[in-house]
Amino acid sequence: MRDASPTTIYLKDHTPFGYIVDSVHLTFDLVPHATRVTSRIAFRPNPDAEDKTFFLHGEELKLIRTAIDGQEVTPELTDKGLTCPVPDAPFTWEAEVEIDPGNNTALEGLYMSNGMYCTQCEAEGFRKITYYPDRPDVMSTFSVRINGPHPVLLSNGNPTGSGDGWAEWTDPWPKPAYLFALVAGELVAHSDRFTTRSGRDVALNLYVRPGDEGKCAFGMEALKKSMTWDEDVYGREYDLDVFNIVAVDDFNMGAMENKGLNIFNSSAVLASPETSTDANFERIEAIIAHEYFHNWTGNRITCRDWFQLCLKEGLTVFRDAQFTSDMRSASVKRIHDVIDLRARQFPEDQGPLSHPVRPESFQEINNFYTATVYEKGAEVIGMLKRLVGDEPYAKALDLYFDRHDGQACTIEDWLQVFEDATTRDLSQFKRWYSQAGTPRVKVEEDWADGTYTLTLSQSTAPTPGQSEKQPQVIPVAVGLLGPNGDEVLGTQMLELTKESQSYTFDGLAAKPVPSILRGFSAPVVIDRDTTPAERAFLLAHDTDPFNRWEAGRALAQDTLLRMITEDAAPNADYLDGLLAVLRDDSLDPAYRALMLGLPTQSELAAALHERGTTPDPMAIWTAVETLRQATAQHMQDLLPRLHGQSLIDAPYRPDAEQSGKRALGSAALALISRLDGGAQAAGEYARADNMTLQLSALSCLLKSGKGETELAAFYDQWQHDRLVIDKWFGLQIALAAPDKTPGLTKTLTEHADFNWKNPNRFRAVMGALAMNHAGFHHESGAGYELLADWLIRLDPVNPQTTARMCTAFQTWKRYDADRQDLIRAQLMRILAQLDLSRDSREMLERIKAA
Ligand code: TRP
Ligand code: ZN
Repeated sequence: MRDASPTTIYLKDHTPFGYIVDSVHLTFDLVPHATRVTSRIAFRPNPDAEDKTFFLHGEELKLIRTAIDGQEVTPELTDKGLTCPVPDAPFTWEAEVEIDPGNNTALEGLYMSNGMYCTQCEAEGFRKITYYPDRPDVMSTFSVRINGPHPVLLSNGNPTGSGDGWAEWTDPWPKPAYLFALVAGELVAHSDRFTTRSGRDVALNLYVRPGDEGKCAFGMEALKKSMTWDEDVYGREYDLDVFNIVAVDDFNMGAMENKGLNIFNSSAVLASPETSTDANFERIEAIIAHEYFHNWTGNRITCRDWFQLCLKEGLTVFRDAQFTSDMRSASVKRIHDVIDLRARQFPEDQGPLSHPVRPESFQEINNFYTATVYEKGAEVIGMLKRLVGDEPYAKALDLYFDRHDGQACTIEDWLQVFEDATTRDLSQFKRWYSQAGTPRVKVEEDWADGTYTLTLSQSTAPTPGQSEKQPQVIPVAVGLLGPNGDEVLGTQMLELTKESQSYTFDGLAAKPVPSILRGFSAPVVIDRDTTPAERAFLLAHDTDPFNRWEAGRALAQDTLLRMITEDAAPNADYLDGLLAVLRDDSLDPAYRALMLGLPTQSELAAALHERGTTPDPMAIWTAVETLRQATAQHMQDLLPRLHGQSLIDAPYRPDAEQSGKRALGSAALALISRLDGGAQAAGEYARADNMTLQLSALSCLLKSGKGETELAAFYDQWQHDRLVIDKWFGLQIALAAPDKTPGLTKTLTEHADFNWKNPNRFRAVMGALAMNHAGFHHESGAGYELLADWLIRLDPVNPQTTARMCTAFQTWKRYDADRQDLIRAQLMRILAQLDLSRDSREMLERIKAA
């Protein structure tokens, strides 16, 4: 029985631990079903703590022996840990426990993946390795001895000795237990070196399974670029003699920043042109950077408690986004990030799972590694930088690193640094951390006697536990365009702090057209009554690349909504405006490819729901198909030229330039396939010599109802490569027609390669089902039932991945009564599972309460 009575943890209850840990020594004797972990920990009373209860976390451990200063003791055990009387003076704690990594399918703590040992300790996995005060404000140096018959034995820090069947590691930097890591296995290294700007010589290794050596070069280059960038832009150097990365196939998330020993989901690091798409390469570069940047923002300065998670995650996402903007195209990166924010964070923030960037309570912390904490957390830092300016931001960051190095900090510490470096009062700004929900900003304009007035009003709908919202500080970047399309006022940062504020602009010859929220200067929704003609004007003339794209996006959304609700024909302003932009060869191909994108069907459902219309998934699907077809016809003559962009007469490079051309060429091929039934795509498939083109051609064929032969050939070609087979599973489901989606998904779960215990494979299949909007929401309810079946099956095996996938149901209240009933029945069926994990139970209870 697990977790009969879930308890809620509150931010306001935080108190320091009663003891300070001066050092930790761990010995591992690795045996698949009986690993021995021996700990020797130096404790002393914490003078700053009142509560001197000696409680050590420990879960699923078999306790063999405990001693204090060499004397055996018998602690009091519960299923959460142990307590024990201890001296009121420094003492040495020793414990020996036995654990079973071979049966650890939850992938938290020490577990095995394809015969290799590895760990995942964030957030609270270390307590499944040994008894310990497993909280991020308890920091200590660690030394580790690993005994095992494996050729590679790794832990954090620097290697301090090794021999036949053993290795020792010492990490000189104090760290919380969540950054502990151990890896053992038969691995091969792709090695390189890096010299830091102060002259430290660092050995770099990327460890992979034999056979994957050919997929390491790109990740290694990304690591070196990240190391250089953090020195150049943030003045941060690496601080150990080695930096190791390990790729593992079974992993719950993307990657983990363990000190000196980053562990990666193999999908987040392994790459080759033949097996990875351009998008995969870009994601890998960003994740390598993200984990590397954590060395300073997360490891050297960590979080006091898990409520402060955004302190490291929001900042590190912001830093990796800056890195990607510098390595590639800043405007393309910004547009990608906003698409992602709207697809993942907005539904969360506007539904039953809405929570502040810094939550104030939780049952299971693993459920709070969310788009809100990460991506909205990064947006909040972007706004702070926009409000204080680039120089003051740099000054504040220097102060942060100076003042807090080696500490476990809070959001208060973070904001204090900005107040001290800039003398700005951030008390109202702080609401971004405590208030949940997406603010809406209403825009009204007035034009009289040569004076133009913009009135901005903000409001945020109630969210769970927060019925009243206070006004927030919203930086709204605005520019004004004259009637001929020239910019009459360059970008100004308006600071909206009250519920409603007016801003006047004098000396204008004619009524301007405003370009509002340039660069997406705040994570808000803009409400503004405007005409398609005005959007088309901005699409043609806006000097801000983000807002120019945004105008096209809004125009597309307007026309789709009218097609759905009024049976309107595709809007000519949209089709003509798009054609003009796509024709303009002075525009970056990557940017033009983005222009061809449409809002997701889920976003359209949300937009209809906001306007008081119950979304019909089939009607949405039909409107998108119709608009696509009309676009293909309208751009017919231009398409061959656009498609030609992807035929590059140079060796494959996954850089911004080539990827942009392939993105545009592939988008064109998708439209061409609507006109020729996939004839050209079949040829492109046969010719493709990289995964980007191969997959785009295969998608076109499947969308055209063809490609059966190619799909089978693809499987035969790639059956030895798990990461490619994940794509094979996902693509079919993503592109299936709505009425075929649940059935096809079910058939694929019966495929011999559906290794559902592998999170990547489970997500490839079930994630694709949930993302196929019209298919998942098929009126039969078969999509809901199938997902629920598999959540029930996976939950006892891997609660973290199950709980994450429960979010597929978070938008259920948008839909009609029949669909709500079907979904409610599935929610209840899952909740009726007696041993349901705390993770899934918390998620489903919150979703159900919508
Ligand atoms: N801290 C990691 C990151 O941001 C992510 C992470 C948190 C994680 N919990 C995890 C990764 C559990 C794997 C498993 O990069
Ligand atoms: Zn992170």
